[in-house]
Amino acid sequence: MKLSDEQKQTLIQAALQVRRWAYVPYSNYRVGAALLTESGKIYDGVNVENAAYPATICAERTAVFKAVSEGERHFVAIVVATENGGTPCGSCRQVLAEFGLDIQVIVVDAQGTIHLETTVNELLPGAFTSKQLPPHES
Ligand code: THU
Repeated sequence: MKLSDEQKQTLIQAALQVRRWAYVPYSNYRVGAALLTESGKIYDGVNVENAAYPATICAERTAVFKAVSEGERHFVAIVVATENGGTPCGSCRQVLAEFGLDIQVIVVDAQGTIHLETTVNELLPGAFTSKQLPPHES
């Protein structure tokens, strides 16, 4: 499913707006994400840091987990808003890959300028997916 220009702008605004809620006392690096489902809903998310640093969760995974825990599994696109156009980390790429290699990924900076427009497949070539596992329930 192709993202319309209007959907893209709406997602960009959502990702920029939600950055305010990032909990980033250690890095001060605010990240906001806005995920569009095939059903037309937007789930946003922020990075939530922790004094035990590895317990931190990224904005992209917050958005995906919020959506999945509301019953959504089919995603069209995610916009990630960072200060300077920083790109999704490896763990977030893997979590996005679980739900579709065709998901569009757009990275913007704090001004909303687009730095990258790509897909999960391009961000994580050769991803490990459920196809490599023995038969299982979906
Ligand atoms: N971060 C994200 O939220 N998404 C990414 O894909 C990269 C990194 C967050 C994690 C941490 O709170 C801060 O950015 C610095 O690494």
